[in-house]
Formats: sequence, structure tokens, C-alpha cells
Amino acid sequence: MRLLSLKAMRTLIVYISYHHGNTEVIAGAMREVLEAELRSPESTTPEHIKSFDLIGFGSGNYFGKFDKRLVSLIDGLPRGTDKDAFIFSTSGSGVYEDAHRELRKRLADKGFRVVGEWHCKAFDTYGPLRLMGGLNKGKPDAKDIEAAKSFAARLKMASSSKAA
Ligand SMILES: Cc1cc2nc3c(=O)[nH]c(=O)nc-3n(C[C@H](O)[C@H](O)[C@H](O)COP(=O)(O)O)c2cc1C
Repeated sequence: MRLLSLKAMRTLIVYISYHHGNTEVIAGAMREVLEAELRSPESTTPEHIKSFDLIGFGSGNYFGKFDKRLVSLIDGLPRGTDKDAFIFSTSGSGVYEDAHRELRKRLADKGFRVVGEWHCKAFDTYGPLRLMGGLNKGKPDAKDIEAAKSFAARLKMASSSKAA
């Protein structure tokens, strides 16, 4: 008789969110669905990452890039990290493709399989934007949170069908 694997998928979400907590709201929504552990890059070690099946990496977009601390964590990981990963971000402009491409490449260099990516526009008062009340006030909103949860649910479904 073939036994199905009932081992729960273990998910870690590593994120940085310092401007308005926008990315933190999204990380929290994904955590709920994936029952994930949330961590900062500074408190995450290569050893820690080893004990998870799926790892999410997220931050705001700062000067066109993911936060440096997240990038340093990835750069410090050993090659041959045979894990599934996903990327998520928030930004003021809605432009995110280059930042995602760069992080995707760094992850692939370490052996991760990037199985999903997610982004939304979010509140931004950086520099002169503050003078005009900022961009995207109120975002991420309920719709963004629902979209983040649906994304997480798709990841969960894909992982559990792999495990079965
Ligand atoms: C220092 C700094 C630089 C930023 N640079 C960009 C940028 O290059 N492009 C962009 O679309 N948004 C930029 N933003 C806006 C943030 O990406 C946006 O507000 C994001 O949601 C912040 O996420 P957080 O609240 O999780 O930190 C910048 C914000 C800050 C504080």
C-alpha cells in the first residue's frame, strides 16, 4: 500500500519593512495562510533556512532594489540550497520587475527554485512625496491583502500536491 506523505510543509518568511510597515502587512497575510514563521534577515541563519521547505523573501522597493539586508542574507547562503522560494515586494511606483529579476537571479545562483512572485503598490511618502500627502494612501488595502492571501493559497496547494 502506498502511504501518502502527511508531513506539514514548513514555511519561513524573511522580510524587511521599515517605511510604513506595508510589506509587513503583506507578510502577515501570507503567514496566516501558509502558517509560516516570520523573521528578519538579521535573525535568520543558513542553518535555520535548512529546516524549512519553502522560504519567502520580501521587502519594500528602496531605490529600485530589495533591502540590502535581505540581499546580504541570500548572498551569504551556501550554493546548492535545494529549496523552493518565493519573492514579494511593495513599492510606491508599481515598478518592481528589475528588482525581482535581480533577486530571482541571486536565489537561482544559490540553488533555490523560485516558484512564485507577488507585488503591490503601497503607501509611499519618501522625499518630496511627503509634501503632497504621499502616493497610494491606504494601500495595501483589503483587496491587496486578499490578493496576497490567494497567492499564498496557490503556493500552498502547489506544494501539497508535490508532497502527495
Ligand atoms: C528610502 C526609500 C526609497 C524608495 N525608493 C523607491 C523606488 O525606487 N521605487 C518605488 O517605487 N518606491 C520607492 N520607495 C517607496 C517604497 O517602496 C514603498 O513605500 C514601500 O511600500 C515601502 O515598504 P515598507 O513600508 O514595507 O518599508 C522608497 C521608499 C523609501 C523609504
